[in-house]
Amino acid sequence: MPSQTPDAAVKGQIGVRTLIAMKRRREPIVCLTCYDASFARFLEQAGVDVMLVGDSLGMVLQGHATTLPVTLDQMVYHSACVARGRERALLVADLPFLSYASPDRALDAAGRLMQEGGAQMVKLEGGEAVAETVQLLTSQGIPVCGHLGLLPQSIHRLGGFRYQGRDQAAAERIQQEASALQAAGAALLVLECVPATLAQAISERLEIPVIGIGAGAGTDGQVLVLYDVLGVSAGRVPSFSKDFLAAAGSIGGALAAYVRDVRSRSFPDAEHTPF
Ligand code: KIV
Repeated sequence: MPSQTPDAAVKGQIGVRTLIAMKRRREPIVCLTCYDASFARFLEQAGVDVMLVGDSLGMVLQGHATTLPVTLDQMVYHSACVARGRERALLVADLPFLSYASPDRALDAAGRLMQEGGAQMVKLEGGEAVAETVQLLTSQGIPVCGHLGLLPQSIHRLGGFRYQGRDQAAAERIQQEASALQAAGAALLVLECVPATLAQAISERLEIPVIGIGAGAGTDGQVLVLYDVLGVSAGRVPSFSKDFLAAAGSIGGALAAYVRDVRSRSFPDAEHTPF
């Protein structure tokens, strides 16, 4: 267990300790991406626990093919927008591509996301390669969320948006990276596009909460891209995602259905768990 598990700064708000308590109670954590104040209010009303200002905004807001063009200034701007609409949910913001290429750069970038963007936690992609950075950030009071499996910022190295950890060696590697992140002080972990059995094994092994996307129902929580949930994503929607607006008919109804289905573990079902 990481030694730094800060309480939410204000009573009633969701913090790292709340999420750990939810994991221990086996109560699924509901997370969604969010990029502006208006949607932040909708997410609050629906009862979302964690708002992730993801660099996926480069794809769903800006229309890029990848997350690589997103800048730190843009992440700070969108994080500050979400912070104005947020009341209770934990606000996590992505460190964009190359903004954490060294521990010192990461400290500067994370500082901006927290001081100017109102973020309460920062997320970065990678395992052992970023362990020193995770240690430095946590030592400075910055809670860190790791991100393993499909790493969108490494898309050119990975050769496409595809599932990771499908053979034994790759699965073992991801398990090691997850343990390294926890040991370095990470407070939360996102697992993207890994087989459900691997995601469940990692969730059971780690003490920190694990949030899955395209990783089956056995993790401690779920995250999706807001625009996919509302059926307004440009381009192809991933097979693990679901348009909740189609059946609900309103934004509020779609978000309420997402929260309900994650809490009851009826999402993701078999249809939305490709591996
Ligand atoms: O950028 C993002 O939205 C993310 C989620 C897909 C986990 O990292």
